[in-house]
Amino acid sequence: MGIADTDHTSHMELPMRPTSSNAPDAKNVSQADWETRAGHKPCVLWFTGFSGAGKSTIAVELERELFKSGKLVFVLDGDTLRRGLCNDLNFSPEDRKENIRRVSDLAKLLTSKGFICIAALISPYNSDREMAREKFDNCRFVEVFINAPMSVCEQRDPKGLYAKARAGKIPEFTGVSAPYEAPKNPDIELRTDRMTVKECVDAILDYLKKNVGCANC
Ligand code: ADX
Repeated sequence: MGIADTDHTSHMELPMRPTSSNAPDAKNVSQADWETRAGHKPCVLWFTGFSGAGKSTIAVELERELFKSGKLVFVLDGDTLRRGLCNDLNFSPEDRKENIRRVSDLAKLLTSKGFICIAALISPYNSDREMAREKFDNCRFVEVFINAPMSVCEQRDPKGLYAKARAGKIPEFTGVSAPYEAPKNPDIELRTDRMTVKECVDAILDYLKKNVGCANC
């Protein structure tokens, strides 16, 4: 019998600890407790847009600003997650849906502990973004359309992926050989071909101040 098993047995034989009026409250820490400690309301900022539209760039700068002002913040970036948690998924509609399902569930867990989550994923289908939205209370899910025309994204081509997709080396590439359904009614729309990164970040911070944590939220 291993050491762990011996330990387990001895724990099983311990009597229950008596409760006393001085014992700490054994109830779960509630979401309200976490929010009180965080000092702000949690939410998810769901960034959607083409590859190269600026999702990750804005996410990183926004994270820095929120961190500087003492907020709990967590970036869930598509490229990063696809190297770990989602590295079994490809870019078929079914796998993109599963990608959104996992990341929105993760965001849900993090917001339940007070975090402001910035999810930066192409998330090209309206139905998948709706599925994500449905997991959150009203005004705790903020859809942010990081909007730059495809031609601009293709010109930027920061990872050289558009060139590869045009050459037929990447199948189902969003905007080239796979669809992108633009949000019909995003909470925030940022034209990254006309705005600086700072202007985009400021617009989101302004939205958060006015809409998240307001009387209706
Ligand atoms: S999503 O469609 O499922 O939301 P996600 O945001 O996680 O996509 O991943 C997109 C990133 O994967 C792109 O920024 C790009 O770097 C890379 N990528 C690789 N292949 C593709 C593809 N076929 N379509 C889109 N992006 C791809």
